[in-house]
Amino acid sequence: MSAEVVKVSADNPQRESLQRAGEIIRRGGLVAFPTETVYGLGGNALDPEASRRIYAAKGRPSDNPLIVHIADIKSLEAITVELPEEARKLAKACWPGPLTMILKKTPQVPPETTGGLDSVAVRFPSHPVALMLIEEAGGFVAAPSANASGRPSPTTAAHVWEDLGQSIDMILDAGPVQIGLESTIVDLTSDPPTILRPGYYSLGMLRSILPDVRMDPGLPESDPLLHPKAPGMKYRHYAPRAELTIIEGDRSAVVQTIRSRSEQMAARGKKVGILSSQETADQYPAGLVLCVGSLAREETIARQLYDCLRSFDARGVDVIYSESFHTPLMGEAIMNRLLKAAGHRVDYAVSPGD
Ligand code: TXA
Ligand code: MG
Repeated sequence: MSAEVVKVSADNPQRESLQRAGEIIRRGGLVAFPTETVYGLGGNALDPEASRRIYAAKGRPSDNPLIVHIADIKSLEAITVELPEEARKLAKACWPGPLTMILKKTPQVPPETTGGLDSVAVRFPSHPVALMLIEEAGGFVAAPSANASGRPSPTTAAHVWEDLGQSIDMILDAGPVQIGLESTIVDLTSDPPTILRPGYYSLGMLRSILPDVRMDPGLPESDPLLHPKAPGMKYRHYAPRAELTIIEGDRSAVVQTIRSRSEQMAARGKKVGILSSQETADQYPAGLVLCVGSLAREETIARQLYDCLRSFDARGVDVIYSESFHTPLMGEAIMNRLLKAAGHRVDYAVSPGD
């Protein structure tokens, strides 16, 4: 089976196409669609068979739960038991938008969708295509990122086609997404509420709404020995095929270190890739470097990170050296994904004078 690719307008989606896509999901099929964060692989969240198909198409372990997407705040009643006051506040401030909340689930949500947990992840996206699809599909769309398990999340329809073109029914193509990194996940079944995955909404932004909210101390970057709570966080994710190492430190020392390591690797016959910010890109050999975006415009880095990782794969690169991108707001999320792609390999550049 090859997926049908249907172009739709991002701002003003064609109702007829979305009706057809919704019908596929109602009948138990799978449709990939754009959200403001990344492309999702949608199936009927209340149909255990559809959830099984999603896991099979992605090659994803079935204990890694799916996010249920809604297009109306009233839909929460059917799938969650009680709504804590904190959840109300977050929903008011952040929905529709790139935030996922973990809440206690009702029996309506099958265990296949939640990986057997008694909680459910819920997200109310803002992308017009996502919203219309959810409506047309009956109101509850389970959607993980539409990549093959272990590959970087898709930010274009072409990425989805690469990974899943032969195993799903339809791909809605509304062009590249806006944000480029998956939603922030906040667990509201824990006290205090806990960020399980950083995203567009940073810890600082969420603290201005819920002063108690904290980062999951089990996030791999906090302590690799602790178990992360979002089941998905324990898998090596967003990974390019090449071995990626992040080089931290003073900017000029980082450039020097990456240049000399690249030369050493090239001398050993390895194909090297370098991931850099626009600010330093011209200091590396042009044939090796990919510019991810500008440190002065962090949204460009978030938007292009996964596409760059995929491009290195397409070039058949063996090793990647990456600068770090600790930008003010999305730096948390960018570095969370980059560290995972690197399997947490970080080296520190030493300045010549040190
Ligand atoms: O931006 C996004 O959130 C995208 C788009 C398509 O909406 N979706 C997405 O889904 O990133 P996925 O499946 O790739 O990531 C879902 C994450 C996984 O790490 C999973 O373990 C966690 O959410 N999760 C889902 N349900 C959970 C639950 N009940 N408790 C804890 N973590 C949960
Ligand atoms: Mg994913």
